[in-house]
Order: sequence, then structure tokens, then C-alpha cells
Amino acid sequence: MTFKELSSVQCPDDFEELAEKVLPPEVFAYLKGGSGRGRTALANQDAFLAWDLLPKLLPGLLLDSTSKGNVGMNLCGVGFSSPILLAPLAHQALYHPEAELAVAKAAAASSTGMVLSQWSSTGLADVASILNNQSAAQSPLLTQMYFLNNQAHNLSLIESFHSSGSQAIVLTLDAAIQQPSMDAMRAGFVMPKNWSNTHSMAGAVGIADIEWLLKNTHLPVMAKGVLSAKDAILLKQIGVQGVVVSNHGGRTVDGVPAALKQLPAIRHAVGPDYPILFDSGVRSGYDVFKAIALGANAVLIGRLQAYALAAAGALGVGYLLKILNQELTAAMSLCGCNTLAEINADCLQSVHILER
Ligand SMILES: Cc1cc2nc3c(=O)[nH]c(=O)nc-3n(C[C@H](O)[C@H](O)[C@H](O)COP(=O)(O)O)c2cc1C
Repeated sequence: MTFKELSSVQCPDDFEELAEKVLPPEVFAYLKGGSGRGRTALANQDAFLAWDLLPKLLPGLLLDSTSKGNVGMNLCGVGFSSPILLAPLAHQALYHPEAELAVAKAAAASSTGMVLSQWSSTGLADVASILNNQSAAQSPLLTQMYFLNNQAHNLSLIESFHSSGSQAIVLTLDAAIQQPSMDAMRAGFVMPKNWSNTHSMAGAVGIADIEWLLKNTHLPVMAKGVLSAKDAILLKQIGVQGVVVSNHGGRTVDGVPAALKQLPAIRHAVGPDYPILFDSGVRSGYDVFKAIALGANAVLIGRLQAYALAAAGALGVGYLLKILNQELTAAMSLCGCNTLAEINADCLQSVHILER
């Protein structure tokens, strides 16, 4: 896809349509699908519709909604130039021959943080060499980890994170059970045989495992897949440096709550200063704004990233990030927020208020 063709993209959702046109139907169904009937995946997106943005016109509406506002931030000691980061997505060669290399190029070109999946199609060193390149302005690399059922393998994984220049470890805790998507099965999707993921993954991860990880790394660790305040408090107490409020995009067990619904209670429980990343259901920069208003420090972009990758490789992902950042700054302008710190729940109105 050329740059000219790309300019037909008006909003992030357009990438989903483009991806559907270029991907084999069963691969698209696998990517789009949520576990089971996909109810949680749908609920993730619907949860954003329960909130409206509340404009603040006075004093002085910021008029230049296309200029990049002050959206820099710091999370676990790592500096980011935007709160919009790229989520870990396994096996991206399914969507584009350049796979994670294309995503890393887009991240480097747009100064975006990227979380690389443990099950990436491209090796960690190759991705790191793009993100750690001196000319790349500020595109921190974070590495996602699943516990493996062999401690020596876990140690060498951690060592590879250290030597790659990773700035934090995102430990995914919610993927011990991943029910397949019915849509993907009906479309005939079969996991390629050489995907060794589930065979080598440890089952449920316990507190002792997490404490072991904390002892064996100097990097900050964020726990991904948190949906309850109770779990968040426990993780904070044992020394985990942050959490990712997420239900894996509705890809674990169908029927768990929409991630956005859980976010305010988790923020309340861990206090204002504890780092929270959020994902699941984010489909626009306005959604990013809502997640920050409800307690997130930053947001991970999942499926949208793969749709843009499938549609147009690095160019597509770069363009997606540009639109998302523009939408975020437009929402900030409308709601009178000059910085991310000024975004809070007062910027939103619950749709239910109107229905009463
Ligand atoms: C195709 C696909 C592969 C994924 N692979 C991983 C993975 O390897 N590790 C991980 O922690 N999460 C993985 N996730 C979950 C994402 O990191 C993220 O939590 C989710 O996509 C967010 O929801 P969204 O797609 O609605 O934005 C995957 C999600 C999808 C759609």
C-alpha cells in the first residue's frame, strides 16, 4: 500500500477493514476473535461507550487540536514521549512478512514504546537493534514474559532481556487458560505446528515465582492481566512495580469483565502513584483519553496494531500511531487538559446519568 492509498484511512477502524481484505479469512478470524463466543471481547469495546467526553470550553479552549500536546510521561522510571504503546502480540509473521521488524521501525520512527511478545516471529536482538539505534529518538523496548516450565529456560530468557537493552519486563499472568475463538475455529484456523507456546508455558504462576523473578532481574516488572483490586494490591505488596489492567483482549476465558469496568476500582485500591498500564478494547485516541481519565497512566494497542501491520507494514503502524496521538490530543484540547496529569474522571460523564 502506498502513502497515497494510506491517506484514504480516516480513523483507526479503517485498518480493520483493510486487514480483512488482505488476510486469509481464517487468520483474520483468529486475530479479531475473542475466546468462546467473543462476548468479553465485545464488552471491552462497549465499555468505552458508557462514557462521554465532557467538553470544557472556559477558560480558553485550546484550538489547535492537531498539534501534539504535552503527552510525555514516565512509567517505572522509563521515559515515553506518548502514553500510547504497542502491546505484545505473538507471531506477527501471520500478518506481514516483516512482522515485528516493521512494528519496531514504526515505533522507532514515531518515538513509541513497544512491548515485544515472548512468542515473536522476529528475534529479540533484531528488534532491539532497531529500537536501541542511536538515531531512534525515544522508543523504549519492553519485553513480555511468560513463565516457562523450566527454570533454566526462565533464567536465560531474563538474561536475554538484560542483554537486549529492555527497560522493563511485562509478566503476563492471565494466559494459563486461553479458550479458542469459535469464529476462528469455524473459519478453519489451526495453530501452526511449530508454535511451541503452550507446551513450554508453566501453568498457573504463583507468588513464589514472581518473587523469584524480582530477585533475578534489576528491571522493573509489571504484571499483565490484572482485573481485580485484590490481585493488584497483592502484586504491589510483593514488590511488583506496576500492573497492566487487561483481559488479554478477551482472549482468555469468555465471560470475564470488560477491562475498562475494572480500572477505576484498581486505581482506587493501589493509590494515585502506582504505575498502571491498560489495554483491551482500545480502538481510538478518544478511548486512550477515557482510559487515562479512569486511572491508567498509559495504554497498550493490541489488535489495531496487527490490523495496520497487515494493511501496510511499518507505514501502516506508523500512520495508525499518528492518528491515535492526534485523536488523544484533540480530546485533551476539548476537555481543557494541557498535560496527561490534568486528565481525570471529571473529564468524563457516565452515559447512564443521561438514561436515568
Ligand atoms: C493475536 C494476538 C496475540 C497476542 N499475543 C500476546 C502475547 O504474546 N503476549 C501477551 O501478553 N499478550 C498477547 N496478546 C494480548 C495483547 O497484548 C493485548 O492484551 C490485547 O490485544 C489488548 O486488547 P485489544 O486487542 O482489544 O487492544 C495478544 C493479542 C492478540 C489479539
